[in-house]
Amino acid sequence: MKTTGNTVFISGGSAGIGLAIAKKLNAAGNKVIINGRSEERLKNALKELESSAVGILGDLSVEADRIRIAEDLKTNHADVNIIVNNAGAAFMNDLSDGNNNAAEKAYIETNTNYISVIHFTSLLTPLLLQQEDAAIINISSIAVFRSNKYLPTYSASKAALHSYTQGLRDTFAENEKLNVYEVYPPLVNTEFSAEIGGANGIPPSEVADELFAALEKDQFEVPVGDSKKLHALVNPVIEQTPH
Ligand SMILES: NC(=O)c1ccc[n+]([C@@H]2O[C@H](COP(=O)([O-])OP(=O)(O)OC[C@H]3O[C@@H](n4cnc5c(N)ncnc54)[C@H](OP(=O)(O)O)[C@@H]3O)[C@@H](O)[C@H]2O)c1
Repeated sequence: MKTTGNTVFISGGSAGIGLAIAKKLNAAGNKVIINGRSEERLKNALKELESSAVGILGDLSVEADRIRIAEDLKTNHADVNIIVNNAGAAFMNDLSDGNNNAAEKAYIETNTNYISVIHFTSLLTPLLLQQEDAAIINISSIAVFRSNKYLPTYSASKAALHSYTQGLRDTFAENEKLNVYEVYPPLVNTEFSAEIGGANGIPPSEVADELFAALEKDQFEVPVGDSKKLHALVNPVIEQTPH
C-alpha cells in the first residue's frame, strides 16, 4: 500500500514499538495519532514527532475508552485509514506456584491483547471500509509460535490474537482496499520486556523498519528478526491448509 499520505492511529504509540512505528511513518509523510494511558508520556512522545501528530489519551483495555477513542477518530480524524493495534499487557507467570494469580493475570492479558483488539477493530471497521486504501495492523509476537514457562498466559493471549488476525484477513480477502497485517516482533529492547532480559533484544526501530518495508510490498505477514525462521517453518503449512 502507499507509505505516505496515510492517517495512522497507533494504540500504545507513546513508547517502545508503537512510538518507533509512529516516528518511522511520521518521517515518511504520514499523519500519526498516538495513544497511551499516561498523559505525561503521551506529551513527551508528541515532542519527538512532527507538529501534525496528535495524541489521544485512553486505556484500550477499557470498553468506554475504546468507544470514546473510536468516536473521536470518526468525528475528528475521519481520514484514518490505518490502525495499529499495538498496546499490550504481559505478566511473568510461574505456573508451578498455585498462589500466583495466574487466572487474574491471564484475564488482563486476554482482555488487552485479544478481546480489546477485536472490539476496537470492529468499532473502526465501517470507517476503514470507506477508505480507498486501508490497513489493520496487529502486533502479535514470536510467542505465537512457541509458548514458554516465563510468559505462558501472555503467549496464549497472543496466539488468540494471531488466530483472530488470520480470520480477519480471510474476511476481507476479496476486498482489495482493506488489508490485514500481522507483525511478529521477537525480543525487543523496550520497557515492556525489561523483566525478561529485553536489553538483549533488537531496537524497536528494527520492527518499524520491517513493517514499513512490508507495507511497501503489500506483504501482510511481517516476521521480524528471530521470528523469521519460525515463521518460515510454520507458514507453508498454514497456507496449504484449506481456508
Ligand atoms: N518488547 C518486546 O520484546 C515485545 C516482543 C513481542 C511483542 N511485543 C508486543 O509489542 C507491543 C508493544 O510493546 P512494547 O515493548 O513496545 O511496550 P512498551 O515499550 O511498554 O510500550 C507500550 C506502549 O503502550 C501503552 N499502553 C500500554 N497499555 C495500554 C493500554 N491498555 N491502553 C493504551 N495504551 C497502552 C504504553 O503507554 P502507557 O503506559 O502510558 O499507557 C506505551 O505507549 C505489545 O503488544 C507487546 O505484546 C513486544
